[in-house]
Amino acid sequence: MQTVMEQRITIDPITRLEGHGKIEIFLKQDGAVDRAFFQIPELRGFEKFAQGRPAEEMPQITSRICGVCPTAHHMAATKALDALFGVEPPLAARKIRELVYSAFVVEDHALHFYFLGGPDFIVGPRAPKAERNVLGVVGKVGEAAALRMIAIRRRLREIISTAGGKVIHPVLGLPGGVARRIQPAEQEEFVKIAAEAVDFCRFSLDAFGNIVLKNPSYVELIQSPAFTHQTYYMGLVDAQGCLNFYDGNVRVVDPGGQEYVVFPPERYLDYVAEHVEPWSYVKFCYLKPIGWKGFEEGPESGVYCVAPLARLNACQDVATPLARQAYQTYVETLGGKPVHHTLANHWARLIEMLYAAERLAELASDAELTSPDIRNIPERVAGPGIGIVEAPRGTLIHHYEADEKGLIRKANLIVATQNNSARISMSVDRAAKALVRGPEVPEDLLNLVEMAFRAYDPCYGCASHALPGGMPLVARVWTAGGELAATLRRP
Ligand code: MG
Ligand code: NI
Repeated sequence: MQTVMEQRITIDPITRLEGHGKIEIFLKQDGAVDRAFFQIPELRGFEKFAQGRPAEEMPQITSRICGVCPTAHHMAATKALDALFGVEPPLAARKIRELVYSAFVVEDHALHFYFLGGPDFIVGPRAPKAERNVLGVVGKVGEAAALRMIAIRRRLREIISTAGGKVIHPVLGLPGGVARRIQPAEQEEFVKIAAEAVDFCRFSLDAFGNIVLKNPSYVELIQSPAFTHQTYYMGLVDAQGCLNFYDGNVRVVDPGGQEYVVFPPERYLDYVAEHVEPWSYVKFCYLKPIGWKGFEEGPESGVYCVAPLARLNACQDVATPLARQAYQTYVETLGGKPVHHTLANHWARLIEMLYAAERLAELASDAELTSPDIRNIPERVAGPGIGIVEAPRGTLIHHYEADEKGLIRKANLIVATQNNSARISMSVDRAAKALVRGPEVPEDLLNLVEMAFRAYDPCYGCASHALPGGMPLVARVWTAGGELAATLRRP
C-alpha cells in the first residue's frame, strides 16, 4: 500500500523553547514535505486544581503555572479578583501594579531577545549551531553590552522584588489593590532604574538596526513568504486605542488591517473559542463569530495571532515618544499595517520593550506612586471575575467563578500561546514545506523551521496546563510503512 508517511524526520528536543515540544515532519515519496506537525507532549491541570480553593489564593497559585511568566499570571489573576469581588483598586495601587508589570515586560522581552530569539538574527540563521546561543550574541554585540544587559535585568527585578515582595512569585496583587505601598526612597531608586532601562532599550533597537536591518539577506528572510501569514490580530488597547500591557479593551483587526471588533474583557467568550485537535494537548483558539475553518489564513478563517507583531497591528498608536518613533519606522519599513511577517516579531518585541521602559519611567516618577491609599477592601463575591493582561507572549485571560464563600467553582485560563497556537502550527508547516527537502536535511534548515515558532516566543510551560474536563486524548501509532497500527483514546 502506498502511503505518504514512509519517511519521517523528528526534531526533538526543540532547543531554546520554554517547556517541551516536538515537531514531526512527514515526507512524501519524492522527499517534499507533506505536512509538519508541532506537538506538545506535556500536561498540567491548573484549572482543575483551582476548584475548591479560596479565590484570593489564585494570584499565588497561578503564578506557579510557569517559571517564565509568573508576573503575567499574577497580574491577570489579581485583575480577575477585582472583578470577582466587584472592587476597583485606588489609582495609586493601579499605578504600582502597572509599574511592576512594565518592569517585568522589559525584563522578559530582553530575556527573549538576547537568549532565545536573538541568536537566530544577531548571530545569524545560517551560523554554525555552536555559535547560535547567547555567547554568540555576546560576540556580536560586545561584552560590555552583554554585561549591561545582565545588569539591567537584575535592576528591573529589584523593582519587582521591592514592590512585589518576591521576584519569582510576586505577592503584590490583592483584590482591590496591592499589599504594600512604595516608600519615597524606593521611588527615587525606581526613577534611576527606569532611566537605565530606557537607555538600554534604545541601545538594543540600535543594535538590531545595525546588525539585522542593514543586512539585506536578513530583511529578505523576514519578508519571505515562508514566514508570512495573513491572519487576524489581537491585543489590548487603552481608551485612545494605544498599545497597553496592563489594562484596556481587546481590539481585533482583520487581515486587511480594518477593525474587526473591540470588546471589554468580560465579553471574551463571545469572541474567543477553542478548537481541539487529537494530535495536540494545546487547544487552538479562533474567533468564534467567524468559526474554525482549519489551519487557514485570510478573512474567512477565524485564526488569529497575539504577541508583539499582533499587538502592533491591533493598536492604533503607541503612546510614549521614543517607542512611537520606532513603531512608525517599523511600519514604514515593512510596507504599512498590518505587518504579516512572523519574523518581524523580533523587531516588534524591541519596540514594545522600549515602550514598556518609557512607561516604567513615567510611572516611576508619578507623584501618586507613594500614596498610602493602596487598597479598597472587598466585601462580597459580586459575579464572575475576568481579568486580561498582555503577557509578553500575548493576550492572557483568567476567568474565575466562585460560590458565595469565595471558593472557586470554575476556572478557565486562556494563555498567550493558546491564542497563537493555530498560527504557530501554520508557520511551522509552511516553513517546513518551503525549506525542507528530504530525506537529507541540513541542520541549518531545521533551525529555519524552528525560527518560525521561536519568533512567537511560545511558552508551553503555560499552554499545556489546559487538560482537565472533556478534552479527548488520542494517541496514534504508525508502522514504519505508514499504516495506522493503533488508536488509543482517553475520553
Ligand atoms: Mg483553558
Ligand atoms: Ni509561561
